[in-house]
Amino acid sequence: MAEVDHKCTLDKIISLCKRRGFVYQSSEIYGGQAGAWDYGPLGVDLKKNIQAAWWKEMTQLHDDVVGLDASIFMHHTTWEASGHVAHFSDPMIDCTECKSRFRADQMIEEYCASHHVTPAKPVDTMTHEEMKAFIEENNIACPTCGKHNYTDVREFNLMFKTHLGPVESDTSIVYLRPETCQGIFVDFKNIVQSNRMKIPFGVAQVGKSFRNEIIFKNFIFRTCEFEQMEMEYFCKPGTDVETFEYWRQQRWNFYKKYGISEKNLHWKHHDKLAHYAKDAYDVQYNFPIGFEEIEGVHNRTDFDLTQHSQFSGKDMAYIDQEDGNKRYIPYVIETSAGLNRNLLMFLCEAYEEQNVATDGGEDYRTILHLDPRLAPITVAVLPMMKKDGLAELAKEIQHELKEDFVTDYDVSGTIGKRYRRQDEVGTPFCVTIDYQTKEDNTVTIRFRDSMDQIRVKREELIPELQKAIREYKPVEKK
Ligand code: GAP
Repeated sequence: MAEVDHKCTLDKIISLCKRRGFVYQSSEIYGGQAGAWDYGPLGVDLKKNIQAAWWKEMTQLHDDVVGLDASIFMHHTTWEASGHVAHFSDPMIDCTECKSRFRADQMIEEYCASHHVTPAKPVDTMTHEEMKAFIEENNIACPTCGKHNYTDVREFNLMFKTHLGPVESDTSIVYLRPETCQGIFVDFKNIVQSNRMKIPFGVAQVGKSFRNEIIFKNFIFRTCEFEQMEMEYFCKPGTDVETFEYWRQQRWNFYKKYGISEKNLHWKHHDKLAHYAKDAYDVQYNFPIGFEEIEGVHNRTDFDLTQHSQFSGKDMAYIDQEDGNKRYIPYVIETSAGLNRNLLMFLCEAYEEQNVATDGGEDYRTILHLDPRLAPITVAVLPMMKKDGLAELAKEIQHELKEDFVTDYDVSGTIGKRYRRQDEVGTPFCVTIDYQTKEDNTVTIRFRDSMDQIRVKREELIPELQKAIREYKPVEKK
């Protein structure tokens, strides 16, 4: 008999997401919309919980970081000032045989990874001519038709452009924002003045961004519509290097805190910097497709505020009362994480097919070891039987828990099957109601990771669950 592979793969994650209502293909009944995904009942809660964890970390736990929710549509000059109109593009190459379109840099990277080739210089520092030459010299075949005839490599701007209002003119142009942070930069003066902010301070924002990506790949990893969790930290020039290191450490610690094993995290330094950056690192996660970026930490210098100052004619300088009223344009350290990629990472990290057979045989359960603060359902209430008033009693207990936890109620199938269903979506605690509950008002808490069970008094259930959430320790997967 062929051996079953119990490793986590992207296909298994996609299948679980669809089967259990985390993520579906958008517009599936019409054949699907490429690169667009819908978050189902469990996906939306998982996404909100990750966002809430990030928001808490950045604002509640950092006194000097405040929030903002800026509009997606911004004055079109914003994007000229930011450099996106001129520079926000990817190198594109077309197959002249089958008309498929690719990102030339990704084609080369994939070829190098699969053929164990190291190019003479990093791909992100190659010119268009060097990329084309590399593709030809290495005889890289078109991934769609296998032939070898390509156009030259050229730049493709990733911004979605449209017009606001009934008349299309140069002044009605608007872009769907390709990053959320520009809203923070153009509101800098408003935030300083309205909230009496003193440098150094940060502004956090979560919202949708849009990029007309040449290729969508790997499920929700790269899409044209996605959410970013960005924080721009304004600091005095000269303090930027140490501030950069501080935020790098903070972001690394955040991922550890929510259960990402350090062996699956990696810093990638940028060899070629974006037009605005002095230094940049990506946090990469070890997805089943390999190490890929989940977050960027960038030293954006005074580039953005200077540009907006010049293009708007408004002075963006900060007057530092604590330093003799010195005027300067602050430097910016940015932490920019993708929410959808975070969700995919937490699912991959949590996924395990675990052999729970006690007789030396094989009995696999699929389990998501999600941190209880992230899990879409925190407590499932399961009556042992429907009859003899147990279902009603379970409903009553579920009602008592609802104010404090996201709960689920499940009465169908054997108790073992119900535990497995909850394990598969990452529910950390199941509360079981049985005949003894009727006698002595106690219930059983069953813990997802260890499968251990304890019996507690009904009135101690809420504090007991709160304690278990507080004291939760991530498991080391085998
Ligand atoms: N403001 C800086 C900025 O936008 P970025 O590295 O282009 O930096 C930050 O994007 C994060 O946004 C990435 O680390 C990634 O997690 C997410 N992201 C970027 N493009 C994406 C896409 N097409 N689909 C999903 N997530 C994306």
